[in-house]
Amino acid sequence: MLYKSSLKNKQKIKEDNLRHIAIIMDGNGRWAEKRGKIRTLGHKEGFKTARKIIKFAVENNIEILTLYVFSRENWRRPKLEIKALMKLFFFALKNEIKNLNKYNIRLKVIGDITFFSEKLQNYISKVEKKTLNNTGLILNIAANYSGRWDITQGVKKIVKAVQKELLDINQIEEQNFSQYLSTSELLPVDLVIRTGGEKRISNFFLWQIAYSELYFTDILWPDFNPLDFQHAIDYFITRERRFGGI
Ligand code: IPE
Ligand code: IPE
Ligand code: MG
Repeated sequence: MLYKSSLKNKQKIKEDNLRHIAIIMDGNGRWAEKRGKIRTLGHKEGFKTARKIIKFAVENNIEILTLYVFSRENWRRPKLEIKALMKLFFFALKNEIKNLNKYNIRLKVIGDITFFSEKLQNYISKVEKKTLNNTGLILNIAANYSGRWDITQGVKKIVKAVQKELLDINQIEEQNFSQYLSTSELLPVDLVIRTGGEKRISNFFLWQIAYSELYFTDILWPDFNPLDFQHAIDYFITRERRFGGI
């Protein structure tokens, strides 16, 4: 095996409290275009990468892996590309349910899924339900997600709670506001990885990354392999997280 799926690596990950990794999987389109192929092929290849990366996360006892698969701004893309992405998402859910259970993975989807077809929405709930009792990796898929949307929907929920007098306005604190975000059940994000060369967040987690470590690589997502993932983890391990202290 190319990478260090060793006991030592697992121990290091545990000691350094690397529990939640989030990935902006960027560069599929460019990967395909560089080869004179249609962008969709890059997405298919990107799906294969995701499978390998999920497996690596399982082997290394990562607790939560969030994958940013579709942003709310991605609807600006050509219809055909969107259609292919939806098909791929559906295909992935349908075919991987067995593997999710085999590897004890719990699937969770965050984002406004009401924009998706009914068929896809039903499948998402089905896979979430069928993997609900799995106790290994939480695979959190951010689909039709955006950080600003998440904060906005959280504000709406908290205002409703105030209106219903379940909460007093003076009781609103950072800690309880977090409970109104789509990530309320999850641990804080320790490490964000972005492939594909851009050094921006593209409306992914905003609130959640206040103290996350950020790792950017030029590698296009379809080329990203477990060894590259290990490099990102090694980078995290060398960081001293001060959280404002000294
Ligand atoms: C990321 O790859 C996947 C999605 C946004 C769905 P891109 O499709 O953005 O690939 P590039 O950035 O154009 O190469
Ligand atoms: C971010 O990539 C979204 C996902 C990876 C799902 P984009 O390709 O949409 O981001 P921009 O357009 O380069 O900012
Ligand atoms: Mg992109």
